[in-house]
Amino acid sequence: MAKEKSVFFCKECGYESSKWMGQCPGCRAWNTFAEEKVAVKKKQNVKSFEKIEAKKITEVLETQDERILTHIDELDRVLGGGIVKGSLVLVGGDPGIGKSTLLLQMCSHLVKDNRKLLYVSGEESLSQIMMRGKRLGAYDERLMLLCDNDLDNIEEKVEAYASEVVIIDSIQTMISSDIDNAPGSVTQVREVTSRLLLLAKRRNTAVFIVGHVTKEGTVAGPRTLEHMVDSVLYFEGDESSGFRVLRAVKNRFGSTNEIGVFNMTGEGLEEVKNPSELFLSGRPVDVPGSVVIATVEGSRSVLVELQALVADSSFNMPRRTAVGVDYNRVNLLIAVLEKRAGIFLSNCDCYVNIAGGLRVNDPSADLGIVMAIAGSYKNRSLPSGMAILGEIGLAGEIRGISSVGRRVNEALKMGFNSVVLPSSNMNSKELKNIKGIELIPVSNINEALKLL
Ligand code: TYD
Ligand code: MG
Repeated sequence: MAKEKSVFFCKECGYESSKWMGQCPGCRAWNTFAEEKVAVKKKQNVKSFEKIEAKKITEVLETQDERILTHIDELDRVLGGGIVKGSLVLVGGDPGIGKSTLLLQMCSHLVKDNRKLLYVSGEESLSQIMMRGKRLGAYDERLMLLCDNDLDNIEEKVEAYASEVVIIDSIQTMISSDIDNAPGSVTQVREVTSRLLLLAKRRNTAVFIVGHVTKEGTVAGPRTLEHMVDSVLYFEGDESSGFRVLRAVKNRFGSTNEIGVFNMTGEGLEEVKNPSELFLSGRPVDVPGSVVIATVEGSRSVLVELQALVADSSFNMPRRTAVGVDYNRVNLLIAVLEKRAGIFLSNCDCYVNIAGGLRVNDPSADLGIVMAIAGSYKNRSLPSGMAILGEIGLAGEIRGISSVGRRVNEALKMGFNSVVLPSSNMNSKELKNIKGIELIPVSNINEALKLL
């Protein structure tokens, strides 16, 4: 009998190897390789395709992507202006974060526009979805529910109902009968996704795939299929707080970096039209270590509160924690503070946190982080109506930032009366017409620290 062959897959990034490895060469993660049987296709679908000729670029006709509006503004914006027909969208996130809720709510809006929808669930029962749908306003006869995980049947039903939008909840539960691997394994997840991709393109149907992100366990992470789909949206947020952020990390039909902000309530997800208000609510006034920064997420600026706490350490190795900002960036900024401003923190524990559960990757937060740490260390606070902007270089210089006008305008709109910003940004055209807010230019870290 022929020996069964197997391959090893990285559960994080899908890297394939013929032997087991401790560290994945693809994503550098440790201990992520899992063994799987080599998939043998039972059926061979040999199709005869028409030969396609190449075309001169000047002969290609212009087409507009046809969009279906969901009428959930936060979602439409993240999608790049609505759902594109024939697109395959992956919605990833931790289990229980609200992916099913968001998509069912999207259905409730789409049925009002007379769209034909198919919601396929391999996780919940028909009555569970029906009850949730009733609460979310998706109780309508144009919304078809299917509780199945067999892809052959799903494809058949999509044809039969001529569905315009299909939701697959979740990819980890679906099975393609062509191959024997267990649902949720890398091979199975990839096969199902590639068949859904064909389905979407052939029928011009928009397909939403739900994927749970798991660090451990046997379930293949959706990261393995990011490159196969048109758009990847991640739904994130603190499970304890109600805030949820939908973020586009890949979008073939629009810009990435866009975020949509939601609030999870008893009646489902509520759109947050003014995120700054939400992230600043409950902010302590005149407390050392609390500063307000302005990040740019896609097309708009959001004000968030950044907090730092510096306390005497009782350990040989002082503790450093960063939530919502990059840990290594915080360490670098602490080193700059020590070397350029003479604030020594080697005997202090340092905690940095973005309030509200937003993740900030914007270098313009540097000065805010430094001001918060120094403020907490010196026990001095900043005026409550002041926002802090600026990137910091290793020499302690404050470097210019992008989209300065948008950030200052957001601060003005939120009733702030002063903004600290890099002096190199002062000549920016974007700032010419902004009135009613004091601009405080700083060129190095010591100048900025005098404001405390
Ligand atoms: P769900 O959409 O099932 O998460 P996922 O599909 O990402 O696993 O959301 C589950 C959570 O949302 C659950 O903890 C309850 C909460 N929730 C509300 O708070 N309000 C609501 O109206 C709904 C439908 C869910
Ligand atoms: Mg779910």
